[in-house]
Amino acid sequence: MPAPAKVYVRTFGCQMNVYDSERMAELLGRHGFAQTARPDEADLIVLNTCHIREKAAEKVYSDLGRIRQIKTARADAGRQTLIAVAGCVAQAEGEEVLRRAPFVDLVVGPQSYHRLGDLLARAKSERRGIVDTGFPDEDKFQSLPPRTPPRAVTAFLSVQEGCDKFCSFCVVPYTRGSEFSRPVSDLEAEARRLTEHGVCEITLLGQNVNAYHGLGPDGHPWSLARLIHRLAGVPELKRIRYTTSHPHDMTEDLIRAHRDEAKLMPYLHLPFQAGADRVLAAMNRKHTAADYLSLLARIRAARPDMALSTDIIVGFPGETETEFAATLAVVAQVGFAQAYAFKFSPRPGTPAATLNDQVEDAVKADRLQRLQDLLGRQQTAFNSTCVGRTLPVLFTAEGRHPGQLVGRSPYLQAVHATADASWLGGIGEVAIVGAGRASLTGVLKSAQRPKA
Ligand code: 5AD
Ligand code: SF4
Repeated sequence: MPAPAKVYVRTFGCQMNVYDSERMAELLGRHGFAQTARPDEADLIVLNTCHIREKAAEKVYSDLGRIRQIKTARADAGRQTLIAVAGCVAQAEGEEVLRRAPFVDLVVGPQSYHRLGDLLARAKSERRGIVDTGFPDEDKFQSLPPRTPPRAVTAFLSVQEGCDKFCSFCVVPYTRGSEFSRPVSDLEAEARRLTEHGVCEITLLGQNVNAYHGLGPDGHPWSLARLIHRLAGVPELKRIRYTTSHPHDMTEDLIRAHRDEAKLMPYLHLPFQAGADRVLAAMNRKHTAADYLSLLARIRAARPDMALSTDIIVGFPGETETEFAATLAVVAQVGFAQAYAFKFSPRPGTPAATLNDQVEDAVKADRLQRLQDLLGRQQTAFNSTCVGRTLPVLFTAEGRHPGQLVGRSPYLQAVHATADASWLGGIGEVAIVGAGRASLTGVLKSAQRPKA
């Protein structure tokens, strides 16, 4: 028997890429590839790439440099290695990837990876780089084999892809295409499959997840809130989360779901990007700072303990010090549980890339530092408010030390506690005794996991 072929998959970027990588690995499994964590023993190397900022995209090329060496060394030993570049760099750059890295065998975009088997066969037989960056008519998800659930407590489920918002800095509408929502029945079936294999928490994913409008069983489009209520009916599913949302699509029914649906966790990632209205308008964000703040007030009225997270860009073209101060003011007013801050990165093909008044890198770096200092203080402060409270923690993985597990609070904080492995997949009441910037420590209140 020849040894089975091996595939090494490396994922860059967002959670949707993590989901796509899992689906690609499953598909490749059906084509005889076993997964390996070592690129040097892989017959196929897949880089699932991110194009959101220049740094992320350039990382792919530096990785490819190392992978080329592996390919050459393996060829010297008489072994063939196929290299596939998937994801958003593949979509955005297409043939350019082959020009910059001619040893790549396949360039495949996020909407065509269900054809991976055929594409690899072609790359192998035609012995030239193949590029597939189309937006095919067929539904990728329908064409993929049924999901092979990961052996994990928590899983991602892509419910929506693409974006029609066209924020002026963002490549997503070009790399992922226009908004598409999967039908409710498919998602329910996938959620059931996941829970049958031990998954207790599902995070619903979409670039614009709250713009979800998939076909419901009644033949009408359903909102994200309706989808959440439906999935909450899956008995083994204990927790539901979703990300990433746009303020514009934060509808009343979704806000109400945070009040009414016990399985929906009190955590919301809601990017606001900038605090000055001139910058928000130039970003084509469709909301002002006041809109954002009043939206948060409505959300907090429905769910007072909601933990808030956000994305912020500093140094958008023309951003003045006063405008940056408006960003700091919004942050100060909201008090985020956690947040991501980025320096503006001009992306080819986006309107903001060619605006005058690009901000100098040193200024961006300084603003980023000041913003991150504030966000860090807020995150630590938020975590500190949990000390002395008892929180229900879903245990998801072994901890760093023997006898320790790590789990997640409702507010998505990592919580470390002494607990035996029987607690994996269980929700335990944990008295929080310590808090740092990135995690909490606690004491599990009951020694034995109750029988489900
Ligand atoms: N430069 C910097 N950050 C960006 N983001 C998207 N495009 C850019 C860019 N060109 C950030 C936004 C978005 C997050 C996923 O990445 O904050 O919400
Ligand atoms: Fe990009 Fe804006 Fe769409 Fe988010 S809403 S994916 S930032 S274009």
